[in-house]
Amino acid sequence: MSFNVAIDGPAGAGKSTVAKEAAKRLGMIYVDTGAMYRAMALYMLRKGIDPADQEAVAASCGQADITIRYEGGVQVVLLNGENVNSFLRTEEVGKATSVISAIPAVRKKLLELQQALAAKQDCLMDGRDIGTCVLPGAQLKIYLTADSAVRAKRRYDELTAKGQVCDLKQIQADIEERDDRDMHREISPLVQAPDAVLVDTSRKTQEEVVRQIIELCLERR
Ligand code: DC
Repeated sequence: MSFNVAIDGPAGAGKSTVAKEAAKRLGMIYVDTGAMYRAMALYMLRKGIDPADQEAVAASCGQADITIRYEGGVQVVLLNGENVNSFLRTEEVGKATSVISAIPAVRKKLLELQQALAAKQDCLMDGRDIGTCVLPGAQLKIYLTADSAVRAKRRYDELTAKGQVCDLKQIQADIEERDDRDMHREISPLVQAPDAVLVDTSRKTQEEVVRQIIELCLERR
């Protein structure tokens, strides 16, 4: 049986950065489920489909073939065979993703893919509903969070480091709007699983969080 770690939490809590690093040190695969939802949103945007049009999204999500593969330990998302990694991290795709991820047909399709990945290998999987829906039997569940102001500042620093011009207040407003949508949607809302360990990263360095996750994994393994 594979050893699975579920990491959930709101946007910008640092899940992907710390999960990726912890997985590397533990020799496990890191599965970024947000990237799969982002690839689906990218597909809709490219097709000119309004992400809020539930029927249109549900009708066309079957045509988006999303797979992942690993190149040098890095997760590569393939959308109908094309490596789309470089298109997934924009604010436009992020917003559309939060909208399409509330649609049951989209969740069903990606849930099956995620469960199949976790069944065949030891992995750290991050997202919003991993501990509650995708891997309810995960040996370790972590709920990673941070204040929205801290999360906004981290996102701002990340974007400005890439040379993008952005507004901190706007980013915080977008993060809070996304939290609200992710936490209050009908299907698979973001909630802390009762058996998840709460890790608040607001006043912790990345290294401290990585070490805490590794310690928890070693304890449970
Ligand atoms: O983690 P992220 O920022 O890449 O996620 C983008 C969006 O995808 C986020 O608004 C919520 C959604 N998502 C989800 O609903 N379920 C997941 N398991 C992962 C992401």
